[in-house]
Amino acid sequence: MSTLDSIRDLFPITRQCFVNSNGTTHTITYLDHGASTHPPTVVLDSYRDFLERYYANIHRGNHYLSQRASDLYDSVAGVVMDFIGGDASRNSVLFSGNTTSALDMASFLMQEKEGATLVSSMEHHSNDLPHRRRGPVLRIEVLDDGTLDYDDLETKLRNNRVKLVAITAASNVTGYMPDLKRIARLAHRFGAKVLVDAAQILAHHTIEIGGNDADDHIDMLAAAGHKAYAPFGTAFLIAPNDLLAGSEPYIPGGGTVKFVTDQTIVWAEGVDRHTGGTPNIPGVIALGEALKWLSSVGMDWVRAHELELLKGFENRLRAIPGVTMLGDIAPEKKLGVMPFNIEGVHHDTVSAILNNEYGIATRNGCFCAHPYLTRLLSCTDAEAVRSKVEAGEDVVLPGAVRATIGIYNNEEDLEKLVRAVAELAAQAQGGSLVDESVAKVICRETL
Ligand code: ALA
Repeated sequence: MSTLDSIRDLFPITRQCFVNSNGTTHTITYLDHGASTHPPTVVLDSYRDFLERYYANIHRGNHYLSQRASDLYDSVAGVVMDFIGGDASRNSVLFSGNTTSALDMASFLMQEKEGATLVSSMEHHSNDLPHRRRGPVLRIEVLDDGTLDYDDLETKLRNNRVKLVAITAASNVTGYMPDLKRIARLAHRFGAKVLVDAAQILAHHTIEIGGNDADDHIDMLAAAGHKAYAPFGTAFLIAPNDLLAGSEPYIPGGGTVKFVTDQTIVWAEGVDRHTGGTPNIPGVIALGEALKWLSSVGMDWVRAHELELLKGFENRLRAIPGVTMLGDIAPEKKLGVMPFNIEGVHHDTVSAILNNEYGIATRNGCFCAHPYLTRLLSCTDAEAVRSKVEAGEDVVLPGAVRATIGIYNNEEDLEKLVRAVAELAAQAQGGSLVDESVAKVICRETL
């Protein structure tokens, strides 16, 4: 059995079928790894094993189960730190429910610092909106091909007092991976810290945050389990110890204190200070198993495999008459993320037909990154869209279909996608697939 076949075999979901509205049975061709990834059996087993054999609360009991649960849970911070090459002597791992809350925590930890937060125009809303409610936010522009404008980054850093550069390691829309080391060097030269949203990259490409003394290190990094072959409900933030110590607790409550009187509180230190309440214990343990499993496969193998599929199939999608890809980024600079539209057919319709008629799972819409989408789609008047949305008018939002590659996808999966898109595009060009909703999309270059 090839390595790929043995990996595929670990995912029960690859054998899952569904029956569409016409009664046709499809085996699911899953190309929505950008949204969430399935757990392999090794991760499912660890999750179930915890629930069956060690289920207990952590750090709160002297009995066997609690101690066993605590040990399993506590070991995961080291697994996370190893996975991203962090400086364990000066940084800590804080677990949270999802990347959004991890990024919000980072924004909270920086809120007392003076200066603006500089976000890129390709951020997921989760690495943009939390900063907006805690002070001024500036924006690094993107170029027409969907890549970052490094000149604009430098200009913004030079002309403003920036405390934090908040940047994704890989866009969830185009898969573009900006040069994090270059960004970190620039940010540090101007006295800013760097927060990286690693949700999209974690399971697809090596990411190293580096030692705190290196000028290109990453100060804070957030990511989630559900995009890295672990179950939903667990994420983490890596943050410097001095920042944790110098900040008010993020969520005050159980576990965040040393002692409480009627009127006073002595806060706990470090990670405990900021993580109120019982965490998702089995989720964290499963996240650790998923990262150990990825390491055992080897992130170099993962990247090489996904890059090969991307190189083999993205250009074929691009070459289909009537298909427009979003962004124009070399495969080496992006993950296996392929956003596209078929001329004359709304992305909702395309994605639904891919599912119903071909059994292919994609995501469509704006991918929680409206500013990036409007740029990629050359939408010149996002404000007009906003006012219509705000007024409650019936607006069909612009967007795209997104196919994303994961560890168990093979050539057959991608071949199926290309053939299906070619058929739909040909039908659209021949007039047999007409989609009324396209006419209502107000945010398009041609309107
Ligand atoms: N952020 C996830 C996505 O890009 C859900 O689909």
